[in-house]
Amino acid sequence: MNARCNLLSLSSHVPSQVLTNDDLAKMVDTSDEWITTRTGIKERRRLAATENASDLGYKAALKALDEAGMKAGELTHVIAATCTPDSLCPSVACIISGKLGAGAVMAFDVSAACSGFLYGLSLCRSILAQDPAARILFVCAEALTRRSDWTDRTTCVLFGDGAGACILTADDRPPLATLEDAICKSDGSLNQLIIVGGGTASQYKQGDPVGSDFFIHMQGREVYRHAVRQMSSICEEILERNGLSIRDVDLFVPHQANLRIIEAVGSRLEIDADKVFTNVEHYGNTSSASVPLALVEARAQGRLEPGMRVLMTAFGGGLTFGATLLRF
Ligand code: ACO
Repeated sequence: MNARCNLLSLSSHVPSQVLTNDDLAKMVDTSDEWITTRTGIKERRRLAATENASDLGYKAALKALDEAGMKAGELTHVIAATCTPDSLCPSVACIISGKLGAGAVMAFDVSAACSGFLYGLSLCRSILAQDPAARILFVCAEALTRRSDWTDRTTCVLFGDGAGACILTADDRPPLATLEDAICKSDGSLNQLIIVGGGTASQYKQGDPVGSDFFIHMQGREVYRHAVRQMSSICEEILERNGLSIRDVDLFVPHQANLRIIEAVGSRLEIDADKVFTNVEHYGNTSSASVPLALVEARAQGRLEPGMRVLMTAFGGGLTFGATLLRF
């Protein structure tokens, strides 16, 4: 598909509360040493009791509109990727659109877990191919700590909250970055490996206490194995499809779930370690928000100059996975 798909802006927002590994060691039987060695995570952000995923997304969206020099009323679409929506209905996209006063835009959520940013970019490209006049606000917003079981040390240490946002168009305005290509796939036969509970399969009557089915469940070892294999092979596929080698990539921005997974994928791809961007140590796994959070930080650190090619990859519940090439 050769449709133009330009990012005019890119922004993020994280809640202010920092939860360190030492804080978690007071809640469950874990330690800074175990979490750091197995995951690379040192701290994560947690939203306040008064905030929801849509609030984080709304704040990121305001920054994205501002950077693009656009008003909410100019948007034609508001799309949100999330696996921790405020509610099953309305969508996070409709809540954000309402807060922004975006008017009669097309608004809906994408459910692709940690691959949400890549799935959303691919979807935006298809929308822009069909409707080149579209002006899309795309938000990734997650409140994973709301589905973390604080008695389960095998999962609660991994996740954090955050949001990212961007404006996408196909018009002639000078873009911040252009989407060169995207491949998104899934393996639904592995849908039980990661579950974020709290949907209608959780059957409660008014007044019942919630059970463990309400929270995140993950078969960590199996996820790890599939994550390394799928992310490596889909990166190779997108490079080959575009006649590129790993040497043509200036920065590799993978989903920030676990430092060991990132290092294993980087080593399989034989990419120089100094081209691999990580910030998992500060935010943990923020699911769909993780890649935009990493891109925003890479940019703030001066690691994304005009002309650079960025390879992004992600995997998550579903299992979903994808790879995307962005040219800054
Ligand atoms: N602190 C201390 N000990 C722990 C902790 C903890 N937080 N968690 C587990 N352990 C213990 C286990 O109980 C086990 O003890 P045992 O040997 O006495 O039974 C031991 O540590 C080893 O446990 P494993 O689960 O085998 O540890 P592993 O090395 O596989 O690391 C981890 C676990 C970090 C979860 C790893 O498997 C992983 O990163 N998997 C991928 C997870 C991921 O990236 N998910 C992303 C997708 S999520 C989404 O899409 C929403």
